[in-house]
Amino acid sequence: AWTTSSIIDDTVSAIRAQIGDGHAVCGLSGGVDSAVAAALVQRAIGDRLTCVFVDHGLLRAGERAQVERDFVAATGAKLHTVDARERFLDALSGVTDPEEKRKIIGREFIRVFEAATAEVAENEHVGFLVQGTLYPDVVESGGGSGTATIKSHHNVGGLPDDLEFELVEPLRALFKDEVRRVGTELGLPETIVQRQPFPGPGLGIRIIGEVTADRLETLRAADAIAREELTAAGLDRSIWQCPVVLLADVRSVGVQGDGRTYGHPVVLRPVSSEDAMTADWTRLPYDVLERISTRITNEVAEVNRVVLDVTSKPPGTIEWE
Ligand code: XMP
Repeated sequence: AWTTSSIIDDTVSAIRAQIGDGHAVCGLSGGVDSAVAAALVQRAIGDRLTCVFVDHGLLRAGERAQVERDFVAATGAKLHTVDARERFLDALSGVTDPEEKRKIIGREFIRVFEAATAEVAENEHVGFLVQGTLYPDVVESGGGSGTATIKSHHNVGGLPDDLEFELVEPLRALFKDEVRRVGTELGLPETIVQRQPFPGPGLGIRIIGEVTADRLETLRAADAIAREELTAAGLDRSIWQCPVVLLADVRSVGVQGDGRTYGHPVVLRPVSSEDAMTADWTRLPYDVLERISTRITNEVAEVNRVVLDVTSKPPGTIEWE
């Protein structure tokens, strides 16, 4: 039988056979796939793997610590963190269009990642790039594999024209639930192994309007409260995900103490889904909604109203942007 430990043994042997005495890099996103892929490769080749984590400033509360502290503690992996928060804020300044945000975030991410990789490659020849591709992704893309080239864009000084890598994809035969079991067996923390889907562009597409440092701080605080209460209510496994969206360009009047407030609404978007292609809005218990609403409006100064999105997909998408 394919037990979790035999999956791990076989995969680790295959990685050793592929990489030999070479060096590899792996980008960590904070999500389960990249974390499990990296943990397997770390087990196979130890410090010849360098993990690269780009903090683009669009992460949720605590996610950087989860990677820098918990992932590293669990795996002993060598980690190179790049603090690119300013750079992403600058690039997103004045931008409100959702697709433009995605393009900018994607472009900046590749630039920062390739610069970080080039830095690693100054000390050792890096021949391999680890990716957390799952079996369903392989099927969807027609099964192709091979080499990856990170194109060198202009403005990145001192890089070779292209960095060429052979891909290492240790999760290629696995489904998501198997990846989670492997992660658990490898000792990765529950917060990483059971993490719900979270979009690559992160909180950048959950601020409706321009992304600024203040708005990110507001949204991060509201999002952390919603997550805490959903977790405390034991709802993490039954909800697919629950985006919290800041309507940054909308203001609404409120009253607090003796004063009138003029703050922003946040939207709760809890959804139930099998695969994110379709989704239904989750009927959250009223007492949970009440706790989330009370806490957000009490604890997050800029937010004076919490609203619930009761749209299924279709016609609404899960994210607002
Ligand atoms: P939508 O909003 O299209 O979302 O119903 C479906 C699923 O995809 C996630 N999502 C993204 N993930 N980059 C990502 O990596 C993106 O640009 C992106 N947009 C949406 C979303 O969170 C949901 O799980």
